[in-house]
Amino acid sequence: MNEPVFILKGNIVYSKNKDELRILKDHYLISESGLVKGVFEKVPPEYAQVSVSDYGECLIIPGLTDLHVHAPQYTFRAMGMDMELLEWLETNTFPEEAKYQDLEYARRAYRIFTDNLKRSATTRACIFGTIHRDATLLLMDQLEQSGLVTYVGKVNMDRNCPDYLREESAEESGIQTVEWIKDVLHKKYQNTMPILTPRFTPSCSDELMENLKKIQMYYQIPVQSHLSENPGEIAWVKELCPWSEFYGDAYDRFGLFGADCKTVMAHCVYSGKEERQRMKENGVFIAHCPESNMNLSSGVAPVRTFLEEGMHVGIGSDVAGGSTENLFKAMALAIQASKLRWRMQDDSLKPLTLEEVFYIATKGGGEFFGNVGSFEPGFELDAVVLDDTRIVHSQNLDVRARLERMIYLADEREVRAKYVRGREICLQ
Ligand code: GUN
Ligand code: FE
Repeated sequence: MNEPVFILKGNIVYSKNKDELRILKDHYLISESGLVKGVFEKVPPEYAQVSVSDYGECLIIPGLTDLHVHAPQYTFRAMGMDMELLEWLETNTFPEEAKYQDLEYARRAYRIFTDNLKRSATTRACIFGTIHRDATLLLMDQLEQSGLVTYVGKVNMDRNCPDYLREESAEESGIQTVEWIKDVLHKKYQNTMPILTPRFTPSCSDELMENLKKIQMYYQIPVQSHLSENPGEIAWVKELCPWSEFYGDAYDRFGLFGADCKTVMAHCVYSGKEERQRMKENGVFIAHCPESNMNLSSGVAPVRTFLEEGMHVGIGSDVAGGSTENLFKAMALAIQASKLRWRMQDDSLKPLTLEEVFYIATKGGGEFFGNVGSFEPGFELDAVVLDDTRIVHSQNLDVRARLERMIYLADEREVRAKYVRGREICLQ
């Protein structure tokens, strides 16, 4: 279905706002030139000649945005989880990421990642590669072919990491990054964009951060990194940057924390009032990664506070801190984690609702990509068609109940069709 105008029919669900769903049974979703024209009860007369894909009883939801995922870590997902962040990085992550120096290894590993992401309900993602330029380009080639829309970053790291995964110097890291960006621009991708990716403060010297800011200003590209994830990491940043007012300030000092530089920070489990205030002022997006935060014993982020304070929040799988690219699982875990936090840590923050989590996974994270994650007119048409017949039920359920079941039970097997920017993705 790649005509400039087409129509999808089914049970259409999207977020009106963070507290309310719009549920439209047996409605028609019209896509025109890659954008949503609207959702209609009947096909308007001027569209009477347009072909309709009738998905019957299926649910049709906006595509999901994975605001934080590490492509090279897909190989060791669901393995080696009995550690906290810093030990886990040294033991599992750095040795695996070093393997992407070998392009044949990278090609095979990234093929599996890209194919599985393509078959999931995810339509947009912010993705970390490794420090390797060529392997990161290869990943971008594969993603471009998939039809998904992604930001992808060549990782920068020049300190506090093993020799085998350390860039030679801040200068060399900057040079490699510029060459990589030039390569990317030369490729003229339609759907795949570069994003600067300083791994996190502990692995980036001040000089490297300064170089990245110059690159960011010159090429006007966004930034992704990690923030206030785990107590051990946060204490380390205090030691490394005694001048910083809080962790986020160690990015902001270099101009890599929102404001004139679109930024997404993963985790923010321990972001205090001042850090949140700065993020709000600077328009920094938060990628909430509940599964990773549990697996690495980091904690539970105060997502309700983020929402109440009007911050930008999306959801992230954070594979391989998280074990799966399936964002339905991330949504369910976001709700479940918020309940434990409420009961055990802070009863002033009520658990997250289905409406809130669905909003975060669609429109909240989608906003990083522009008008994405909704079926309001003018939004880019990213849609996922969910067929829930595999998960049998003896009664007729209403659409909201069926959506809730999808959040707790669905995986790629429920994804019957997927559209990104008005183009159907081949799920094979
Ligand atoms: N902080 C720095 N690097 C990483 C990473 O690869 N995963 C997670 N979860 N946190 C990080
Ligand atoms: Fe991460």
